[in-house]
Amino acid sequence: MFKVPPLAPQRLQKLLRAMPKAELHIHIEGSLEPELIFALAQRNGVPLPYASVEALRQAYAFTNLQSFLDIYYAGASVLLHEQDFYDMARAYLARAAMDNVAHAEIFFDPQTHTARGVAMEAVINGLHRACEDARAELGISATLILCFLRHLSEASAFETLEQAQPLLGKIVGVGLDSSEVGHPPEKFARVFARCRELGLHLVAHAGEEGPPAYIWSALDVLKVERIDHGVQAVHDAALMQRLAQDRIPLTVCPLSNQKLCVFPDLKDHNLRQLLDAGLCATVNSDDPAYFGGYINENFTQVFAATAMTARHAYQLAFNSFEASFASQADKRVWEHRLKEAFERFVEHD
Ligand code: ADE
Ligand code: ZN
Repeated sequence: MFKVPPLAPQRLQKLLRAMPKAELHIHIEGSLEPELIFALAQRNGVPLPYASVEALRQAYAFTNLQSFLDIYYAGASVLLHEQDFYDMARAYLARAAMDNVAHAEIFFDPQTHTARGVAMEAVINGLHRACEDARAELGISATLILCFLRHLSEASAFETLEQAQPLLGKIVGVGLDSSEVGHPPEKFARVFARCRELGLHLVAHAGEEGPPAYIWSALDVLKVERIDHGVQAVHDAALMQRLAQDRIPLTVCPLSNQKLCVFPDLKDHNLRQLLDAGLCATVNSDDPAYFGGYINENFTQVFAATAMTARHAYQLAFNSFEASFASQADKRVWEHRLKEAFERFVEHD
């Protein structure tokens, strides 16, 4: 690997913000800022159980994943029309570009919307058009990953796949999210097998709150290429070895883990342990509007709390490109830009 000398803390923080990176774990519905939720509620005549933006923000005090999901699904209820999905994704991509995100792989939860009578076309076409426009206008690359809600049935996931079938050219893969404990990956074995036959990339949330066994079954039953979160892997030495050996990426979300009380204090986060064990860990924002920060905030806060170094920073950004579903040609371009960014910082230190 490119040799990275240590940097002074202030300089390292600046480098974390400036370095090019990929974001591989962002739920687009989790990028809805309270201001946009209120604006869309007004535009669409959707009543909200909160009197103001401030009152909504006040409700963002979570004790676990479920306490967050209840508010997150309520926030998504303001999304009705293709333009709403476009506006939400465009706002995220503009914000991500400011954090020097070169490439984003964006999760979306269609069942949250189709259950309210929104057409699958409105969801996917709005998000996809925002990705295309952002590429042209902001120079940021962005693709879409359709997530199945694991608290719903296998039949609902199959129905969702069927509705999305005519639009599969606009997504690169499928994932699995929502309430983890009690909904093991194997519940969706047959849906994921079908998605694999269709040539889609496969990812799944596993080991966020759930046990290492869920990470094993995401790998061995669903045959996913990446694990979203995966931080519970440290409790299983054989699993750590498997993840390191096969370079299975983990899309880690430090501020999410803190806000959902997986690691109540960021100084106890195990990102550094995962990296030092040779795993392909990456840093991501998960639901930035709800967890107090976009990707750069995740980088700077977790580095400050756990005393990671410039070498870790380089590794994390490099991993994010390696772990992406982008073309080899794009990856080489971004990795070259990453090396240049580091050389600039080291020279001027
Ligand atoms: N949906 C949005 N954010 C999520 C998370 N952190 N875990 C599971 N499902 C989610
Ligand atoms: Zn997530």
